[in-house]
Amino acid sequence: MDWGLQNRLSRIFRPSDARTVMLAVDHGYFLGPTHRLEEPRKTIEPLLPYADAIMLTRGVLRNCVDATSDVPIVLRVSGGATIVSEDLANETITTSVRDAVRLNASAVAASVFIGSAYEHQTLAALGGLISRALDHGIPVLAVTAVGKELEKRDARYLSLCCRVVAELGAHFVKTYHCEHFDRVVGSCPVPIVVAGGPKLDSELDALRLAYRAVQEGAAGVDFGRNVWQSDHAVPMLRAIRAVVHENATPERAHELFLDLTRVPQRQPV
Ligand code: 5RP
Repeated sequence: MDWGLQNRLSRIFRPSDARTVMLAVDHGYFLGPTHRLEEPRKTIEPLLPYADAIMLTRGVLRNCVDATSDVPIVLRVSGGATIVSEDLANETITTSVRDAVRLNASAVAASVFIGSAYEHQTLAALGGLISRALDHGIPVLAVTAVGKELEKRDARYLSLCCRVVAELGAHFVKTYHCEHFDRVVGSCPVPIVVAGGPKLDSELDALRLAYRAVQEGAAGVDFGRNVWQSDHAVPMLRAIRAVVHENATPERAHELFLDLTRVPQRQPV
């Protein structure tokens, strides 16, 4: 692997355990001002010290994150449909690799919609993106199975999605957890990070999801709503870190979460 590409990946995946806790804050690109992400800077800033990488669009990066921040950036570069469009799957590449270089992105991310009317369009767009990103040593994150396609959340469908994007050359994949998730991991030759999805009933449920995912082979998580829609977003992100980086059980991590909600949060030095 080329040095630059490897170096960028090692900024996202902690070299000591090859795992990552990514924070997804890209929702506005199709959802608009999502609940608790209405003012991105307010949501993102306190969480930055505890994220191994953040996933967001160039608009939010430029306007809501200080350029002095050293958090690795996974830049969402696909879009073109919204929650009110006819089909959420009708995405294209909306941001150039050149702009990703300008923004010092550690990786770029694009969604594919396998099994939808836009399967060919989004897979072809991903292939082209990977070729252009490789010219600059930038890794590509393929995001699989969102929107309507999420209804097909089973190991057979997710294995197909993850394998196809890995075959196209994606360097890592974001997908959902499912029953028999180990089969999805086993047939995908690149690391998988797991999305959180809509906010679960409790923090413990979200910690259980993260725990099962990493114990069944995920290389980490890329959670959004289950972090910043919590009433205690910083303690939640720190508890997820314990699950991912320290193999803490969900119960242990939940105790940590509760402890952290009782003490005023201090920024690390
Ligand atoms: C949508 C995305 C989002 O980043 C993703 O949904 C992750 O966030 P959450 O954990 O809130 O589901 O990639 O395509």
